[in-house]
Amino acid sequence: MPRAKPINLAGRDFISDLDFSIAETEAVLNLAARLKKEYRAGKPHPLLRDKTLAMLFFFTSTRTRGSFEAGMAQLGGHAAFIDSDTTQIAHGDTAKEIGQIFGRYFNAIAIRQCDWGFGNRYINEVAQHSPVPVLNMQCDVYHPFQILADLLTIREYKGKNLKGRKIAVSWAYAASYQKPISVPQSLIIQLTRFGMDVVLAHPPEYKLMPEIVQQAEEGARLGGGSFRITHDMDDAFEDADVVYPKSWGSLLTTSDLKESAEIGKKYTSWICDERRMTLAKKDAIYMHCLPADRGLEVTDAVIDGPQSVVYEQAENRLHVQKAVMVMTMGDKATQAKIRAKPRRIARK
Ligand code: CP
Repeated sequence: MPRAKPINLAGRDFISDLDFSIAETEAVLNLAARLKKEYRAGKPHPLLRDKTLAMLFFFTSTRTRGSFEAGMAQLGGHAAFIDSDTTQIAHGDTAKEIGQIFGRYFNAIAIRQCDWGFGNRYINEVAQHSPVPVLNMQCDVYHPFQILADLLTIREYKGKNLKGRKIAVSWAYAASYQKPISVPQSLIIQLTRFGMDVVLAHPPEYKLMPEIVQQAEEGARLGGGSFRITHDMDDAFEDADVVYPKSWGSLLTTSDLKESAEIGKKYTSWICDERRMTLAKKDAIYMHCLPADRGLEVTDAVIDGPQSVVYEQAENRLHVQKAVMVMTMGDKATQAKIRAKPRRIARK
């Protein structure tokens, strides 16, 4: 039988969840699990010594910035935090300039640009001109690193075989701001590929992009799971193994922020509370990418309760991002090293 070709992500961009095949995503998750074990055991793994990452932010962040920065340092490299407001972008530096110039200074360019109808286009344009990998730290369409962390977390709690496992990806009410739709979109296209039964719940005004819904349907066909949409949060929660209720903006319905806020007020009952948690399986886990609007999207009793895995989920951002950086930025020797069977970590 011909041997399977080794997975090689060197030099690759990661902009959409679907940029990596299922086998490539599996390889990322396996390396992330290995790096996590080593990190927890205090075993250093400087796999990206002397490498540099540009982190260009057009939008605020707690987890993404912290985990990429810490991750690069743990790998022996350096991550430069660049707030777009402190650059010359407003004075004329184009996406081409960012790709060409940062691509000569850094070994990869990571970007967060969530502006609706623009962010994804911008990141792709930088990638078109960049000689080094471009990594999507969240755009208006996708949040691929978040979903890799979510997948790793779900596998830790529910096992690697996710076929037949039900996840409720539900809209929830929030008042803080019009949150991007990238998290639910990335969730439905990635988790269907891994065979999960994905139920997407939202009020009619909060629909996702039709091409993404189509990709989720295709993912379900590929992965052997299922995908359906409901407008009833309780229906989605019924018998779920994983519940992931979070808010997003009614971006496909209106661009008027005032109108959007008014629409949201019709659905304040869309909260994840203890009653709703009882609809899911007894051992269901509660997930949220954070930040959450406490008291609106979710009650304290749930997010701080025994079923909540939000801090494990946030931690896993670190491990999956390190895995992707090693696999896309590592040189030949590093690629060989990560393909080699890991040595047992001695117990302390
Ligand atoms: N979940 C997430 O991306 O968090 P930040 O916005 O804080 O980076």
